[in-house]
Amino acid sequence: MSKKRIGIFGGTFDPVHTGHQIIAFCALDSGNLDRLYVIPTGCPPYKTVYASGEDRWRMVSAAFSGNKRIVPSRVEIDRDGPTHAIDTVKALRREHPDDALFFIVGEDALVNIPRWYRATDLFPLCAFMVISREASVPSVSSADAVRHLTSLGARIVRLSAFPGNISSGMVREAFAAGGTPDGLDPAVLEYCACKGLYGAAPRFPRAGEWTDALFGALKPHRFAHSLSVALTSVRLAVRYGEDPVLAEEAGLLHDCAKNLPLEEMQSIAREMSLTDDPDMLSAPSLLHSVAGAGVARARYGMEDPRVLEAIAYHNTGYPGMSRLAMCVCLADYIEPRRDSFPQLEAVRAESERSLEKALLMSLEVTADYVISRNQYLHPRTRDTIRWLKTLPACSENN
Ligand SMILES: [Fe+2]
Ligand SMILES: [Fe+2]
Repeated sequence: MSKKRIGIFGGTFDPVHTGHQIIAFCALDSGNLDRLYVIPTGCPPYKTVYASGEDRWRMVSAAFSGNKRIVPSRVEIDRDGPTHAIDTVKALRREHPDDALFFIVGEDALVNIPRWYRATDLFPLCAFMVISREASVPSVSSADAVRHLTSLGARIVRLSAFPGNISSGMVREAFAAGGTPDGLDPAVLEYCACKGLYGAAPRFPRAGEWTDALFGALKPHRFAHSLSVALTSVRLAVRYGEDPVLAEEAGLLHDCAKNLPLEEMQSIAREMSLTDDPDMLSAPSLLHSVAGAGVARARYGMEDPRVLEAIAYHNTGYPGMSRLAMCVCLADYIEPRRDSFPQLEAVRAESERSLEKALLMSLEVTADYVISRNQYLHPRTRDTIRWLKTLPACSENN
């Protein structure tokens, strides 16, 4: 069996930002890695951390969800005492005795490597993958550092990326000043807002508690999607004059039942008399919305019927649905973490102009897709499309 190429990307990730994501994808693709471990530090010996290890872990898990070759690791967070690179590399070497390990560092870290705790013990265990900023000429000091490290026995691979002008410090400063920082994955931005990290103010009191519970209830990709839908629901609510807090609550909880086994969704639906529709009861892709409204009530204490309604119908809509429910249904479709395709971009553009028209477009695209694959289209989606077409906002002249 051929040797695998394994990357090790550690950092405080306080918080993880798009620059980190760009570096990770550069290492993965240009560095031809089979797997990349992203490792938030536990107690770094020389650095202050602002968010707890668990918060940084969840943000990293959300930001890197959806790519099977990227594996967030708790190897440092779960270790007591100060964390040193040598301990992490040794732990990964035990897991990958025959593979090639690459420790990923930015160019600015090069000069410090010889001062790391037991640095020379690292050199036989892993190579260094140095990511330079694209278009920047390697400085004299970094060239010297490479020569020095090589003379000590280090192996160095150089790559370049363009991570943009962003740092975790800049993000924290923007939050502390009451602003919305650039350079964050939407899931991370919403997570910071919900948990009140770095001076951000949560929009409603239970946002942090719900976010913690959702992390336990959902797979990382679904968790990240839920945060992104919440953020997008707020944006649409503000744009169309709906209550942003209700929109955020519904957005956060809309998929809260999504990762439950079908049998559990069915028993929730029966016990709470949510539906007796056999088509709905047999399909998790449909039932999770109705069951989700039940879970939102029973486990998250959500009593507001406007929010429960938005959750219950987020995947099909319904004739006569409220504009709040429209915001959540549309946000579910256009949230920025979804991969782009031409029709999605058209719906995103329309969402800036007309809530009703954008929702109609999104349901039509979904219906066409489902029908083209010979899958079952729930009649409520058809009814909602028909109803939306009767609205003045969706008439040909508008
Ligand atoms: Fe859903
Ligand atoms: Fe969703």
